[in-house]
Amino acid sequence: MARVAKRYVCQNCGETHLKWAGACAACGTFNSVVEETPMEAPPRGLGAGKGAVVPLVPLKGASGPLSRLATGIAEFDRATGGGLVPGSALLVGGDPGIGKSTLLLQVSAALAAKGAAAVYVTGEEATDQVRLRAERLGLAGAKVALAAATSVRDILATIETVEDLKLVVIDSIQTMYLDTIESAPGTVGQVRGAAQELIRHAKRRGAALLLVGHVTKDGQIAGPRVLEHMVDAVLYFEGDRGHQFRILRAVKNRFGPTDEIGVFRMGDRGLAEVADPSALFLGERDAGISGAAVFAGMEGTRPVLLEIQALVAPAPPGSPRRAVVGWDGGRLAMLLAVLDARCGLALGGRDVYLNVAGGLRVAEPAADLAVAAALLSSYTDEAMPERTAVFGEIGLGGEIRPVAQAEARLKEAAKLGFTRALVPAGTRLKVGEIETIELGRLSELTARFDLARARQRERT
Ligand code: TYD
Ligand code: MG
Repeated sequence: MARVAKRYVCQNCGETHLKWAGACAACGTFNSVVEETPMEAPPRGLGAGKGAVVPLVPLKGASGPLSRLATGIAEFDRATGGGLVPGSALLVGGDPGIGKSTLLLQVSAALAAKGAAAVYVTGEEATDQVRLRAERLGLAGAKVALAAATSVRDILATIETVEDLKLVVIDSIQTMYLDTIESAPGTVGQVRGAAQELIRHAKRRGAALLLVGHVTKDGQIAGPRVLEHMVDAVLYFEGDRGHQFRILRAVKNRFGPTDEIGVFRMGDRGLAEVADPSALFLGERDAGISGAAVFAGMEGTRPVLLEIQALVAPAPPGSPRRAVVGWDGGRLAMLLAVLDARCGLALGGRDVYLNVAGGLRVAEPAADLAVAAALLSSYTDEAMPERTAVFGEIGLGGEIRPVAQAEARLKEAAKLGFTRALVPAGTRLKVGEIETIELGRLSELTARFDLARARQRERT
């Protein structure tokens, strides 16, 4: 028997090191390297036994469309690409307290209501706690089989007895352990081992497996990073705990698109679907205030209107602050440079704060023009004209570039009562009653604000 060497595993990225180190050489995280006992001795190399011959088949074959388990919770089904795929494993990540357990209990109940055998395993709470939550959600009568367990061996033995198993929820994977692995629950080795066994079982039974994984913003808690490679889909449940909105976002999906989001609102009876996110995101808005612009964005196939807020404030001497919530800080730096170089608007000596209202995160370059408008509006202290939506990408030359799906964006704006839109030149669309103002260069946007007056005010 080969001597099993100790190994040191980074709890952030899963990299194995021969020696302990204060920082992981692979991902650079500090204090993340932990000693773990390997699951088994490393393989001796091939050659001893002959492998079985697996059939080689052509690409084209008779595998019909995927049958999916639609939950009937439209926002969840949308984010998963049409429902859960039997035999697939899905990871739902998110900060503690964001609502993962609530969501998955609602999903289990919805499937159970359709007659599917659903098992909900909690390793974090007592069954009574889950029952209380179910009562609060009005789901006490749902036919979900509930178990409190953390031993994967016990869980597998238990779900083996469930006939025609369709769904297994494991809440959370960090609390599960395999008794064949020595390290503590939550370590990379345990998380990987436990997930492997659960996934294997789900595949064999043709049941969908939903794994809950806690992740902090800096990825402090172990597991989910290594899990992402093992599962078929990864959904992040995100939102600001100070806000009601929750967004379920697919970041990986072997069976569907990855840019769709599901929008929910956390209320006192659990998560409610939000079919019309724009109305919700703009609902809290105060029109007529400077430093805000409404961006007509797209989330997957769905247009979403949201407010971009900027604050340009005098900075004390020294290095001015740049703080961004919900957008890319690097992109803001680029925009500020373009405003300076192409439009002569130097904000280098001022504090700049940027916020996407409602806790949403925007990744589209199409938001550039709305961000620029919000910055200009704050700098000049002039409110954007009312009922005006904005979209367009800004290039380094100060040119405004057309963006995809302009028509869907304009339609959504029209639907919400907007009457005007600042759009990239060449958009040439007539949608409803919306007047489109085409802008070819960023300077055409700055010209719409009274910069001279703002500069004058700054001097005095
Ligand atoms: P939970 O699902 O336990 O979060 P997670 O599993 O991601 O840790 O939800 C936690 C929060 O949600 C908690 O602060 C209470 C709140 N909540 C509601 O506001 N309404 C509800 O109906 C429920 C069940 C929870
Ligand atoms: Mg929970």
